[in-house]
Amino acid sequence: MTNRKKRLAIFASGSGSNAEKIIEYFKGNQNVHIEAIYSNRKKAKVLERAEKHKIPSITFNKSHFLEDTQSIIDDLKSKKIDLIVLAGFLLLIPESLIDAFPQKIINIHPSLLPKHGGKGMFGSNVHQSVSESGDTESGITVHFVNKEFDKGRIISQIKCVIKEHDDPQNIASKVLAIEHQYYPMIIDQLLENKYYEGS
Ligand code: GRF
Repeated sequence: MTNRKKRLAIFASGSGSNAEKIIEYFKGNQNVHIEAIYSNRKKAKVLERAEKHKIPSITFNKSHFLEDTQSIIDDLKSKKIDLIVLAGFLLLIPESLIDAFPQKIINIHPSLLPKHGGKGMFGSNVHQSVSESGDTESGITVHFVNKEFDKGRIISQIKCVIKEHDDPQNIASKVLAIEHQYYPMIIDQLLENKYYEGS
């Protein structure tokens, strides 16, 4: 990567609390700019958050995303996006998009992968699964995105302790707090090449 400002695109389908933390973290940063929020849900709360922070947003439906991925790739390329950050984005990323941005798409998963990951493991399903497993710890995994759900190379994991009395909701709040605290920082370090193999 060169020394020019790094350009980020955030993909989110829902509330977007992580997206907002990332926006706030990089606000005023001379080296990083959030170019746009991309969402497959026209009513997603993340779009209100984008508007509040004056970040442009782009929406599409599932079939557009899956069948006309090239138009989204073209848009991202025209914006010279350096890193695509998934923050609660629920659609599987098409291969053509992955191939167009090799090692440039990352995701956050609210468990310690490979545990409690894979198809269908999102939102409360993850925390329910952790709770039922009797695990004494959970946490977050930030990873590169490849062609399978939650299987790309792990960039960073942060743990939290699960107590016996913690129910799925408690676990969810503990994990979300770690996401908010660490995801922006991990992105920042990644942009500084900290996690790239051979760099
Ligand atoms: C987070 O728990 C994230 O790990 C998962 O989806 C959730 C998104 O939450 N991928 P929010 O939309 O950022 O509030």
